[in-house]
Amino acid sequence: MSKKSQNVASVELEFKPARKFSKKARISSLAQYKQLHRESIKKPATFWAREAKELLWQKKWSKVLDWKAPNAKWFVGGKINVCENCVDSHLINGRANKAAIIWEGEPGESRTLTYRQLHREVCQFANVLLAKGIKSKDRVLIYMPMVPEAAIAMLACARIGAVHSVVFGGFSAESIADRLEDCKAKAVITSDGGYRRGSVVPLKANVDEALKKYKGVETVIVYQRIGEKVTMKNGRDVYWHDEVAKVSDQHIAKGFDSEHPLFILYTSGSTGKPKGILHTSGGYLMGTYATTKYIFDMQDDDVYWCTADVGWITGHSYIVYGPLANGATQVMYEGAPNFPDFGRFWDIVEKYKVSIFYTAPTAIRAFIKAGDQFPEARDLSSLRLLGTVGEPINPEAWMWYHKKIGGGRCPIVDTWWQTETGAIMISPLPGCTPTKPGTATLPFFGVDAAILDETGQECRAGEGGKLVIRQPWPSMLRSIYGDKKRYRDTYWSDYKGVYTAGDGARKDKKGNFWITGRLDDVLNVSGHRLGTAEVESALVSHDSVAEAAVVGRPHEIKGQGVVAFVSLKGKFTGSDDLNKELRNHVGKVIGAIAKPDEIHFTTALPKTRSGKIMRRLLKELVATGEVTGNVTTLEDVEVIKSLQESLKK
Ligand code: WT7
Repeated sequence: MSKKSQNVASVELEFKPARKFSKKARISSLAQYKQLHRESIKKPATFWAREAKELLWQKKWSKVLDWKAPNAKWFVGGKINVCENCVDSHLINGRANKAAIIWEGEPGESRTLTYRQLHREVCQFANVLLAKGIKSKDRVLIYMPMVPEAAIAMLACARIGAVHSVVFGGFSAESIADRLEDCKAKAVITSDGGYRRGSVVPLKANVDEALKKYKGVETVIVYQRIGEKVTMKNGRDVYWHDEVAKVSDQHIAKGFDSEHPLFILYTSGSTGKPKGILHTSGGYLMGTYATTKYIFDMQDDDVYWCTADVGWITGHSYIVYGPLANGATQVMYEGAPNFPDFGRFWDIVEKYKVSIFYTAPTAIRAFIKAGDQFPEARDLSSLRLLGTVGEPINPEAWMWYHKKIGGGRCPIVDTWWQTETGAIMISPLPGCTPTKPGTATLPFFGVDAAILDETGQECRAGEGGKLVIRQPWPSMLRSIYGDKKRYRDTYWSDYKGVYTAGDGARKDKKGNFWITGRLDDVLNVSGHRLGTAEVESALVSHDSVAEAAVVGRPHEIKGQGVVAFVSLKGKFTGSDDLNKELRNHVGKVIGAIAKPDEIHFTTALPKTRSGKIMRRLLKELVATGEVTGNVTTLEDVEVIKSLQESLKK
């Protein structure tokens, strides 16, 4: 964060929601929020039983919560179909002809699906999955561009009780193979390609590559987005359009147990192996439904747009499940924010009269850099509410968003949450919470957030500590797929019965939470989580690399950039070519987002006498060029000098 932005934070500007906004909002006073929040913490069963009445249950639950830390069961005994809630329920409540998804392709074409049309397409595709022998609890990997069919595929899986695992289209063939192997997927749904910044991403070709390694996939369904020729393997690969033509568009959704697995989504942790975060049905739907309703204050005449990709949790919760369960109209955009230029997002806002807009701080910083002329040339007066997610928003970006995009009139909800939490945990409620640039403000209903010190005591106001959640919440992860032990160790072992988020934070006197960032070896690059160990293991898998250490460095647009230190095996010497080759290698192993911004060759890495790499020193070195921290445990102090030299090059 720059000096200037710290100054903005220190004057503590406070913005109160406009009366006009509050009057129409669901929660319109802080007193109302406090009373409901108190109830949701003291009597969670009462609070959630009332909320859950708004969902469609095929069989009512008998108990709201069964909690034996760290295992939660929500809405015990209930039977629900998540897809039916997102689609069918709107056919009988007057929204059948309401637009569910207004899609815009990167080249500029546009397509609208009403809830009735969405229903037809989802039913049809569910029948395709059934015809292909996909059964309840089978895993289906989805690797798609941002087209409505991505959401349709997810909803169709949910409808028949299959478990989807969406892999972001920017991930590599090797990443797909690792995930297929971990969840033992039976089918893959992909596309011939997708458009990104004017070029075609070869999704099917990546799947083909992955399937050379993992042999368990029986069916690959290919949606034709581009119309390019792709290799189709006889007996395994089929086209989406051929298959839907063979089946009925009628399908009756059956109820599944409230704890039936809904999806697995992989995310980075502090080891080289991504974690398959497991979410289940009733609780997850409850959490995404309620947060969409209260935090985005979703109204029937809103046009909502979340700019995330469905491959991330934000896309799962706030493109697919939350908004659709609320019967919202939403915009879905296929491509890049800067294609053909930085005016694209604002063109879309103007064209579809977007009223609620949800994006990431990294995008906002890129827009600031591109210049005010882009938003200034468009009519953004349809906007009434703005949101951010993914990383702490620096006050400069917040102020720009507020003024240039929100025209000074729109509340901003800075939403803190994680893949693991399933839904937003800390955020303003737009009709009542006073906001300040840089704080995600107050916990949502049912969220018992606190900041603890090492001994488990609650920190005093202003004091930094670990962000924890002290009570279970409906949309919490249920496990790491196939690894209960890692689930327990990662999230529930710092303090007894308490969830540790992995973030540092402090609370001010008014109870606002200020999130400061990850406490573990996890980077936040453009709002995406990336494990340093994951990048290191990708580097070490290259023939030339003996050892690697990866740290983050503050980056103007991305939040954090990736810096790698690499020592080579004897017969190799560092060169520009090798540097490039290693960057591409990481791109190939993980995906383009993981490519280091800088790679420094070094003869040795700073280590403790027991051989542990001291990343703390490297972090300081890349941020400041110096090492002032304690170096007494360092095995060889000379290493620092040589690293300083290599950084100057
Ligand atoms: C991590 C979770 C949740 C969807 C996007 C990322 C950081 C997220 C905020 C925010 C400060 C934030 C945290 C968190 N983070 N939102 N509003 N303020 N930090 O999901 O990949 O699971 O990453 O993103 O560090 O732990 P994710």
